[in-house]
Amino acid sequence: MEIKSVGVIGCGLMGSGIVQMSAISGFDVIVREISEQYLATGLGKISSQLEKAVAKGRMDSAKQEEILARISGTTDLADLAECDLIIEAVTENVELKQETWKTLDAICPANTIFASNTSSIPMHIQAVVTNRQDRFVGLHFFNPVPVMKLVEVIRAATTSDDTYEAAMQFARSCRKVPVSCIDTVGFIVNRLLTPYLLDAIRALEAGIATAEDIDTGMKLGCGHPMGPLELLDFVGLDTVLAIAEIMYEEFKLPQYEAPEMLRRLVKEGKTGRKSGTGIYTY
Ligand SMILES: NC(=O)c1ccc[n+]([C@@H]2O[C@H](COP(=O)([O-])OP(=O)(O)OC[C@H]3O[C@@H](n4cnc5c(N)ncnc54)[C@H](O)[C@@H]3O)[C@@H](O)[C@H]2O)c1
Repeated sequence: MEIKSVGVIGCGLMGSGIVQMSAISGFDVIVREISEQYLATGLGKISSQLEKAVAKGRMDSAKQEEILARISGTTDLADLAECDLIIEAVTENVELKQETWKTLDAICPANTIFASNTSSIPMHIQAVVTNRQDRFVGLHFFNPVPVMKLVEVIRAATTSDDTYEAAMQFARSCRKVPVSCIDTVGFIVNRLLTPYLLDAIRALEAGIATAEDIDTGMKLGCGHPMGPLELLDFVGLDTVLAIAEIMYEEFKLPQYEAPEMLRRLVKEGKTGRKSGTGIYTY
């Protein structure tokens, strides 16, 4: 089951990173967005990342050209029909993901592998709407994708050995370190990280310190490269809210309950770095 071509759905924060990483690793990639405008923004982000790498002498311009030549974009899902592997990176929403898989299932040949980059939604909930539950797996990358080494490979009860092995092999081909996880809400990292991020907002809400001091406390006191509030803005407050709601719905534990301040910021469109304002203003 050799993977040569990759289709990516969504060219936001994660999708654009997955496209960039796949093309750098030698795969042909086609990415689908919902509009030409979003597509241009996502592809523009990749171009400027590569441009920066050339300017810093980390890549020569021939390599840059070669990588860009492997990437194409579309707004038509049907253009992904020839891909060996399709990785979904659309907004964290169960219905949207199910709808996307249902449509793709009718478009793609039976041997195409489907992989979700969801932060929290179990694979079986997505795979069930397709006729390829054996060829459905989770590939959960981390932000920024070209830099972060980890990928969680999530194996549903129905995932075949071949599909699981192909996913592990794809992760290694992209020079990532894969870890395996059973098909549970939030997997490994978000199960542990989400309560911590939500607690940081609760600490800010309670007025125990300024945002800057909370972040400095965790960076200098615990050796974290980023403070929790900076990290929230980096991940996207809307995405963290969606993850918290999915995890609270599943576990009904107070540590997964979204704080009021998070709900308010998202309602006001303050989603973090991607909108220019979140906990901080950029
Ligand atoms: N932000 C993170 O740090 C992070 C990390 C790991 C995984 N994830 C997961 O990755 C997924 C995407 O998150 P993100 O942070 O990139 O969000 P984002 O908001 O930056 O990007 C989502 C993109 O999906 C596009 N989209 C929506 N519906 C679509 C459709 N039907 N077809 C094609 N594109 C569509 C949107 O236009 C948007 O550009 C989510 O499931 C999220 O939980 C996020």
